[in-house]
Amino acid sequence: MERFVLTRDEVASLQTLVAAIAATHDSAEDPDFLLEAALWAQEMPRRLRAALNAFRLTEPDAAQIIISGFPVDDEKIGATPEHWNLSAEERSATLEEEILLVLTGSLLGDCIGWRTQQAGRIIHDVMPVRGMEQEQIGIGSEQPIWWHTEDAFHPLRGDYLGMMFLRNPDRVPTTFASLERLDLDAEDWQTLFEPHYTIRPDQSHHPASGAELEGGGNGLYGRIERMQTEPEKIALLSGDPRSPYIRIDPYFMDPVTDDPRAQRAFEALVKALDARLADLLLEPGEICFVDNMKAVHGRRAFKARYDGRDRWFKRMNVTRDLRKSRADRAGATSRVIQ
Ligand SMILES: [Fe+2]
Repeated sequence: MERFVLTRDEVASLQTLVAAIAATHDSAEDPDFLLEAALWAQEMPRRLRAALNAFRLTEPDAAQIIISGFPVDDEKIGATPEHWNLSAEERSATLEEEILLVLTGSLLGDCIGWRTQQAGRIIHDVMPVRGMEQEQIGIGSEQPIWWHTEDAFHPLRGDYLGMMFLRNPDRVPTTFASLERLDLDAEDWQTLFEPHYTIRPDQSHHPASGAELEGGGNGLYGRIERMQTEPEKIALLSGDPRSPYIRIDPYFMDPVTDDPRAQRAFEALVKALDARLADLLLEPGEICFVDNMKAVHGRRAFKARYDGRDRWFKRMNVTRDLRKSRADRAGATSRVIQ
């Protein structure tokens, strides 16, 4: 995979910028910072801004960008936490890294979180959590995470998935496949643009994943519950038939029993993406943005260490159009989808 490698001068410039922001904001989720993140982002080195701008506007076939070379101080960030539910104090050890993730993402769009996922946090901590080993979500470990579109079930899902790696000592690969130039026959291709399919919510939006909400949140989970019991029929591909957008999560999809043609097209798409799936090995300090409309991603299985050195990254969703979710957020400046 090609990488955008920061020069020494670019790293120094980013460190100065991030330190200036960290001096006046305790959290990368501080609404005042989020309101100005796109402005601050214009103070990043021009070559980096140009790369992110081109990634957003040219929609390259690669469908991911990896920014490499930002040093992470392994001692400063502390031990890999045992759970994503960190206190403000625990999170402050990675404030600079979170700020950098938000800044780079701000050149692609605006970051968003979900009230139903990691208790409404916008920047997630992802690490193996004890007792969740067999789960099909980020905080699991011993099961591979089947490749998917992030939040595929939800109409307000992000356009980009951002990940900043802090630790990956066992070199556990993220998996990745771009949709570009997939070899499917014309009839299957056409069928995938038609609404035959259903995708149910993944467990990261479920109370069982531990995403307890302040003040209950039953109504919110009720909406997810409805998506579980009465999922809408959708198309898996959309946009330009020569270079389509994708929305898929096979692990949470039921077979299409009433239309063999639709089921056959789905199986052909899954097989083609399976064949293309590649390992993406992300190192500490690397920031990866996956184009969530042009590629799928997952993770290989691994054995968690639970020794404070486990694989750990920050995760963030970015939308190109905040207005799309306006009715589902508390106000114009809120970034949390209810
Ligand atoms: Fe994912």
